[in-house]
Amino acid sequence: MSKVFVITGASSGVGKALAVRFASEGNTICALARSRDKLESLAGQYPDTVDIYPTDVSDANQVTHSFTAILEKHGAVDVLINNAGVHKTCNFDREDIESIDRIIDVNLKGTIRNPLNHPSYQVCSVDTDRP
Ligand SMILES: NC(=O)c1ccc[n+]([C@@H]2O[C@H](COP(=O)([O-])OP(=O)(O)OC[C@H]3O[C@@H](n4cnc5c(N)ncnc54)[C@H](OP(=O)(O)O)[C@@H]3O)[C@@H](O)[C@H]2O)c1
Repeated sequence: MSKVFVITGASSGVGKALAVRFASEGNTICALARSRDKLESLAGQYPDTVDIYPTDVSDANQVTHSFTAILEKHGAVDVLINNAGVHKTCNFDREDIESIDRIIDVNLKGTIRNPLNHPSYQVCSVDTDRP
């Protein structure tokens, strides 16, 4: 049975690969990222199954706006893949605080502020750095 997936960071890398995989299996994909052009290209490949929601996950208003639109259109979401993130190694003693704030805003707050982060949903957070 087809499911409704929400995938953040669906414009490239792991998020895009997951979107392509699940869309090609006939599932509905709500694809989020900042790059509208890349999301449009993905939707062009799967016009019947991919919906795009250009969103910066560090912006609470944009996140609320997109998830409200998703729930209005699809009613419910089966799987949320919290994948959007900035992959950057930093040394706290050498990094400027704005850069560290940005990483926390996207990778940490961008994941936990998500309105669908609720026990009734299947939530997958991507952290490929674990051994
Ligand atoms: N590759 C690794 O070795 C590695 C290691 C550890 C952790 N990770 C984590 O695993 C996840 C996937 O990695 P990847 O290699 O596939 O990364 P990637 O190719 O750089 O893709 C990151 C995705 O996140 C999106 N993104 C970044 N900032 C965003 C923001 N503020 N709002 C919305 N979307 C945002 C990007 O889209 P836009 O730029 O269009 O917004 C892009 O679609 C990331 O969370 C990454 O931090 C990766």
